[in-house]
Amino acid sequence: MKVIYLILLVFLVSGCQNNNSTAELKTKYGKNSPQDNIKAKELYKKCQRCHGKKAELNALRKSDIIAYYKKEEIIEALKAYQKGKRERHRFGHLMKGIVSDFSDYEINILAEYISQLN
Ligand code: HEC
Repeated sequence: MKVIYLILLVFLVSGCQNNNSTAELKTKYGKNSPQDNIKAKELYKKCQRCHGKKAELNALRKSDIIAYYKKEEIIEALKAYQKGKRERHRFGHLMKGIVSDFSDYEINILAEYISQLN
């Protein structure tokens, strides 16, 4: 009998873990959860001195105002900077240094967060 309980317990625990990773996957393609927004806000602290608190500034008087970007455009831009493939105002290398160690998940939640700032 004990064995059955043990098996049930293992199923329960692994079931919960699966749910967590599904939740994280969902946020990659969907809306940010409240926890995602807390993380994204923390990540955005790295950006606001140039892009502004509400992403309302032309960073270094060069960049576009990214508050007007759609989520997809932000993701596309950040991934291109990571690969060193975007250099619109001669500062692509600078952006590359800032976002180079971001995961896809971080880029996603950050893009969602920025696109909702205005
Ligand atoms: C030191 C100032 C600085 C910081 C900090 C910074 N950026 Fe930038 N950002 C720039 C500049 C300058 C450009 C223009 C780059 C180029 O030449 O393509 C830019 C471009 C961008 C673009 C594309 C806009 C365009 O004009 O093509 C996005 C999106 C962006 N940054 C997001 C971010 C995010 C997200 C962060 C924080 C993780 C961040 N930036 C941090 C200065 C900064």
